[in-house]
Amino acid sequence: MATDGYPTAAAFIPPKPTLPRLREAAAGCRGCHLYEGATQTVFGEGLKKSKVMFVGEQPGDREDVEGKPFVGPAGRMLDRALVEAGIDRSEVYVTNVVKHFKYTMRGKRRIHQRPDSEETAACRPWLEAELGQVKPQVLVCLGATAAKALLGPKFKVTQQRGEFVDSELAPLATGTVHPSSILRAPDEEARHRAYHDFVEDLKIVASALD
Ligand code: URA
Repeated sequence: MATDGYPTAAAFIPPKPTLPRLREAAAGCRGCHLYEGATQTVFGEGLKKSKVMFVGEQPGDREDVEGKPFVGPAGRMLDRALVEAGIDRSEVYVTNVVKHFKYTMRGKRRIHQRPDSEETAACRPWLEAELGQVKPQVLVCLGATAAKALLGPKFKVTQQRGEFVDSELAPLATGTVHPSSILRAPDEEARHRAYHDFVEDLKIVASALD
């Protein structure tokens, strides 16, 4: 979808896409301005035959440096929760609604900034192309940005987490909290509870896969 003042990634999608071709083309994406400040495009990772696709917001500082999604603290939290929920990592494809790190500088630190709806819309062709290749049985949005972008503005993570909703993007689609919100919990007890609830949501996904 084109949005006023922004180009989109649509022109960068290669003909006859495959995951490797998409990854290669995404590396040169100039579909919005976010490439300017980022180290590199962080494309999704996982096998084409993955049954579940997890979609986060955008790469963080670590992901931007390493060029892989969910390899920083939030990614480690996700990995741990997947193991606990009994979801095999090899059945999982992980990606983000926006493929470049958006940040602002605070001193020497790069502070995450939420992508806006134009940036999300500009990047959407990549996600649609990934969905077209992987065709996951279950789509899981991590956090409000992904949930709103993919499940619609009415989806409320706080109220509907773990609930499957109708979507043309996958046979089963749901959303839950972003693993980084667990890391931001105010104290140990809140963190413990948030992590437990996250694992419970992933267990719902696991049972849908059986
Ligand atoms: N947060 C996200 O939403 N995605 C990542 O890849 C890392 C952190």
